[in-house]
Amino acid sequence: MWKVWLYKVEKMICLGIESTAHTFGVGITDGRKCLANRKLMYRAKGGIHPREAAQYMTDNAHLVLKEAIEEADISMDDIGLFAFAQGPGLGPCLRVGAAIARVLSLRYKKPIVGVNHCIAHVEVGKWDGKLKDPLVVYVSGANTQILGLAKKRYRIYGETLDIGLGNAIDVFAREFGVPMPGGPWLEKTAKKGKRYIELPYTVKGMDLAFSGLLTAAKKLARKKNRYDLCYSFQETLFGMLVEVSERALAHTKKREVLLVGGVAQNKRLNNMFNEMCRFHNAKFFVSKPEYNADNGFMIALTGLKMFKAGVRQKDLHINQKWRTDEVEVIW
Ligand code: ATP
Ligand code: FE2
Repeated sequence: MWKVWLYKVEKMICLGIESTAHTFGVGITDGRKCLANRKLMYRAKGGIHPREAAQYMTDNAHLVLKEAIEEADISMDDIGLFAFAQGPGLGPCLRVGAAIARVLSLRYKKPIVGVNHCIAHVEVGKWDGKLKDPLVVYVSGANTQILGLAKKRYRIYGETLDIGLGNAIDVFAREFGVPMPGGPWLEKTAKKGKRYIELPYTVKGMDLAFSGLLTAAKKLARKKNRYDLCYSFQETLFGMLVEVSERALAHTKKREVLLVGGVAQNKRLNNMFNEMCRFHNAKFFVSKPEYNADNGFMIALTGLKMFKAGVRQKDLHINQKWRTDEVEVIW
């Protein structure tokens, strides 16, 4: 009997739901391939309004789900496991994904797992790069963490003490009337800058603080050349990040560096990391944009790994402040 069960788990297909902030995503995987990865993104003029984003997800979730099932070319009965992003994130948005996953699990009588969103970013990057034990630099809108696996947990070697790196970029871009996400605009504009303008550089031990730098850059928005200011702002932000990452790499002696999260798409940041890794003889890897930005596939992939390793959760409530290092990594 247990052999049949093991066989079933081995062949299991998992459907994962992402809904931590602006993206509602549905991904499907058998653990080897990405069978589907569909998403819709709520676009806000200013910052994200959690209730509006949740409403947008509620209105559109069924469309994304249908598209994902069609893309995978399977039926709902083929799904053996449902996974959802349990946190961290915005409460109203998290609740949408959690409720849908719970209903699907009950309707199709299949198990359900809650996945830590940050760990899902890491796992999908490791899967894509076929990495074993990387130092992970996770840079998104809300999060900035330098992580590494040690004694069954992703330990946080350094992190932001205030806002996330992407957030700092988005708020700065808003000063110039650029809607979210401001990252691609900053990258393009910074390329035209030539002269470095001195800005606050705040590294505290292994941690980072961006709000002082952001305030100073915002104050200069109307006073300095836009291109030079964007260039200087980007160089300072990334310089701080690379400095702390380099120290973590030297200390942990890991042989691989994985850059994940929305900001990882920035070419200038990639170049800086490439150079730093070359100096330390470490392999550098950055995932494809579709896996780097928030998506359902990373939730499905991580959920399946967790389930196969034996993770069974009693508490499936959302956890808005779920920290990366609170999760025991038994897979
Ligand atoms: P998380 O919930 O993990 O914090 P998130 O909701 O912020 O994720 P992501 O898609 O991981 O979403 O990251 C979005 C961030 O990435 C935005 O702040 C955006 O400005 C930034 N970003 C996107 N492209 C670039 C780029 N080319 N350069 C710099 N930043 C970028
Ligand atoms: Fe994310």
